[in-house]
Amino acid sequence: MTLSVGVDIGGTKIAACAVDRAGTVAHRALRETPAQDPDAITVAVADLVEDLRDQARAGGETVGALGVACAGFVDAAGSTIVFAANLAWRNEPMQERLEAATGLPVILENDANAAAWGEYRFGAAEDVDDMLLITVGTGIGGGAIIQDRVLRGAKGFATEVGHLRMVPDGHLCGCGNHGCWEQYASGTALVRDARELVRAGGPHASGLAERCGGDADSLEGVMVTEAALAGDPAATELFCDVGRKLGEGIADLVAVLDPARIVVGGGVAAAGDLLLDPARASFASHLSGRGHRDPAPLVLAGLGNDAGMVGAADLAVARRG
Ligand code: BGC
Ligand code: NA
Ligand code: ZN
Repeated sequence: MTLSVGVDIGGTKIAACAVDRAGTVAHRALRETPAQDPDAITVAVADLVEDLRDQARAGGETVGALGVACAGFVDAAGSTIVFAANLAWRNEPMQERLEAATGLPVILENDANAAAWGEYRFGAAEDVDDMLLITVGTGIGGGAIIQDRVLRGAKGFATEVGHLRMVPDGHLCGCGNHGCWEQYASGTALVRDARELVRAGGPHASGLAERCGGDADSLEGVMVTEAALAGDPAATELFCDVGRKLGEGIADLVAVLDPARIVVGGGVAAAGDLLLDPARASFASHLSGRGHRDPAPLVLAGLGNDAGMVGAADLAVARRG
């Protein structure tokens, strides 16, 4: 059998897997993300592909294509990372580099588009034709499948929803604008607000302060998630805030796209209903035409953190999206 490799390049880890045509993960490999230098990343991805090739060979399988999910603006042809708000990539012809380094046909895809495709084909939106995926991590990513196709736009930059301007003159964003949605409803926003709470002191923040030994700068997103899951009131409130802002933005996007289902993934979604319940409530109360339409169900990603790499692997097979 011929498997397809999917890779998800994250800020700290590069995750890779080999999947079959049914989207089942047959083999996995993981590396730390090297310095954000295209050469080092090329070498790391080529190593991961070799690792997966070895695993596949041992099972009597081969590897036929490579799809790479990237957190940034990828051109419509899937060949170049044009720009990234939270990474150092500028006009990197990664398709060419990776084809040379691996000998495989390669396509690049925006990480959220890839995750949307993964969820649409094999996950929480398998049974609908129109869906919206929102990934909530360092930034906010969007992916839309409309009538069986990935919505890419003219240049490939459609659904850059993290950069919708939510707050006029708000926080400066990595994209150069002020007040982008991802400055208010992402993991970055969650950590920024949590650190501020710890710095301000006071009994309300004591649970969070304890988790970072009183050093606000060392407080990380996972600590806030763990605190919230353990019932810490301040952490729970922070997820409520972020969830509410998430739901508001989703209401705007639903006004444009009218998806049958909205899937939420990314690291912050690990908090589950602590994030999704407030998001559902604010989505329903901001949706245009509410009371006269059923709000589309807002659900957690079915493939979890695998959605991006599985979607990229599947897109690489046929680039049918
Ligand atoms: C980037 C998107 C990406 C999203 C999630 C945003 O800042 O502009 O391209 O999909 O983060 O990683
Ligand atoms: Na996108
Ligand atoms: Zn922005």
